[in-house]
Amino acid sequence: MCGIVGYTGPSQAAPILLDGLRRLEYRGYDSAGVVVQSGGELKMVKARGSVAHLAGLTGGGRELEGVCGLAHTRWATHGAPTDTNAHPHLSEHGLFAVVHNGIIENFAALRSELEAEGIVFRSKTDTEVVAHLLEKYYDGDLKRAVMRTVSRLEGSYVLGVVCSKEPGRLFCVKEAGPLILGLGVGENYFASDVTALVARTKNVIYMEDGEFAELTAERVTVYDRTGREVTKSVSHVVWDIEAAEKGGYEHFMMKEIMEQPRAVKNTVEPRIRSGRIAFEDFSLTRAELEGYNKIVITACGSAYHAGVVGKYVIEGLCRIPVETELASELRYRDPIIDGHTLLIVISQSGETADTIAAMRECMSRGARCLAIVNVVGSTIARLADNVIYTHAGPEISVATTKGYTTQLAALYLFAVWAAELLGRVDAGRYAQLVDSLLELPRLVQRAIDLNVHVKYLAERWHGQQSLFFIGRNIDYAVAMEGSLKLKEISYIHSEAYAAGELKHGTIALIDEKRLVVALCCQDGLFDKMVSNVQEVKARGAKVLGVAPEGNRRIFAEADDVLFAPRGEQLFAALPEIVPLQLFAYYVARENGCSIDKPRNLAKSVTVE
Ligand code: BG6
Repeated sequence: MCGIVGYTGPSQAAPILLDGLRRLEYRGYDSAGVVVQSGGELKMVKARGSVAHLAGLTGGGRELEGVCGLAHTRWATHGAPTDTNAHPHLSEHGLFAVVHNGIIENFAALRSELEAEGIVFRSKTDTEVVAHLLEKYYDGDLKRAVMRTVSRLEGSYVLGVVCSKEPGRLFCVKEAGPLILGLGVGENYFASDVTALVARTKNVIYMEDGEFAELTAERVTVYDRTGREVTKSVSHVVWDIEAAEKGGYEHFMMKEIMEQPRAVKNTVEPRIRSGRIAFEDFSLTRAELEGYNKIVITACGSAYHAGVVGKYVIEGLCRIPVETELASELRYRDPIIDGHTLLIVISQSGETADTIAAMRECMSRGARCLAIVNVVGSTIARLADNVIYTHAGPEISVATTKGYTTQLAALYLFAVWAAELLGRVDAGRYAQLVDSLLELPRLVQRAIDLNVHVKYLAERWHGQQSLFFIGRNIDYAVAMEGSLKLKEISYIHSEAYAAGELKHGTIALIDEKRLVVALCCQDGLFDKMVSNVQEVKARGAKVLGVAPEGNRRIFAEADDVLFAPRGEQLFAALPEIVPLQLFAYYVARENGCSIDKPRNLAKSVTVE
């Protein structure tokens, strides 16, 4: 997810654009760039690093003279964060500059077509194809060039466009990503969200997918996909600038919980074309897969919990033994690992020291490594033999939510892809699993919609001193993450426990002061879970049940209930964690905790 800004008016554009970028930096911060029209040309400065670094290169924007331009802060999806891959991107003869938020899924084919026509690409990004297409189609009619270019694109693209031959004119395009227009007095703006604009104007137009807009200092015109002008209502922003940086949410954590349907969609859909799973730049072959006698999954924190879910799913589909290891343990365990081991490393930041150390240790013993990472170009991504990027976008809240659920989505994609390659699933089951993967974004949204009451449950239970999260099979793995979420933001002690194991000792702790969260979403184990619920209730505990949507038996057993939408049982963990994320959030909020920055924690622990 990146941040884009555009400005046209009487003032110097670059300082305004940089100020807008600063307010968008939470959207992506590995590189940034700015371009302005100046003396019939496009003057551009871009670099890897923060917006502050870019401001330093341009004297706070004052050294870039011009009253109309674009700017961009990047969250890399294609191409590592480098000066060359930073946006804006220029067309071959410098006629056009483009900034982009999203993923152009057919960029490879477009790049080949343009290269065959003699175009020389400078970057590794998907975005650069847009700049070259604009120059290819421009014959003096800027609007037509934009429409012809957009008609060639597939995927998600929010674009800003400026042309050296069209002084004071900007175009912006919205397809599957946020884009807002800002209406000033004798000046106009566009941006990825209100954050970048609200300091300059509170009169905004929210664009819809398929629409594009033309901006000059005096006028803003919005068109539909066919190029016909549409009338749009103007909204007045009531947020203060602080709230706007969270898109109107009180905390980044809630914003990121709500972003999960799109984050999962951005992780899954680009890997499924015509009903088949394919990973970009993947070198893992059937022969290699057949050569592995085990898979070891290693990570830390929530990423480790995602790995435990992955164990159940990969073993269930691929029938390859899977071990899950905490990275801080694996690195010192003299592990039995060799060339017949596939190591799967999971990390949101790609910079966690324990995970990197464990990865190096295993690779030094001959293991091949597949990394599941959110940050493009991070250390773990660069060290791995193969990478599956989660397209979650930047995650600001220390307690991960969309980072974890997109890790699950990537593990599911891999498990289904490998099972089919190994011939472990037939065509019918493969198609069914692929459909279930494409269903996940809707199930995540359903999990949010089903649990609007969770805020009230938190009001009832926020005073608990200690909780148990119990489950069986995949629900046990989900219990681990549900427990950590609560602990790390509300500071309430909790423990995840295998429900079947409770009676062997730990049940001694169960009394009327305990709240037990019982995860009962594995259909084949529901009756067993009911027995465990009855065991703890018999000793005085209160029970918060988590059950599949429509299950009514849970009401007879539990004191309160959270619901998970029904879907493919193997993928149940992904929607099921959502009500537990919300429960942890509202409990912490009731207790007045610092939700986005909990005490003692760091977003990525890059030290031992
Ligand atoms: C912890 C974070 O410090 O590190 C967790 O608070 C995270 O949210 C864990 O799961 C591992 O971090 P990463 O970046 O390797 O996934």
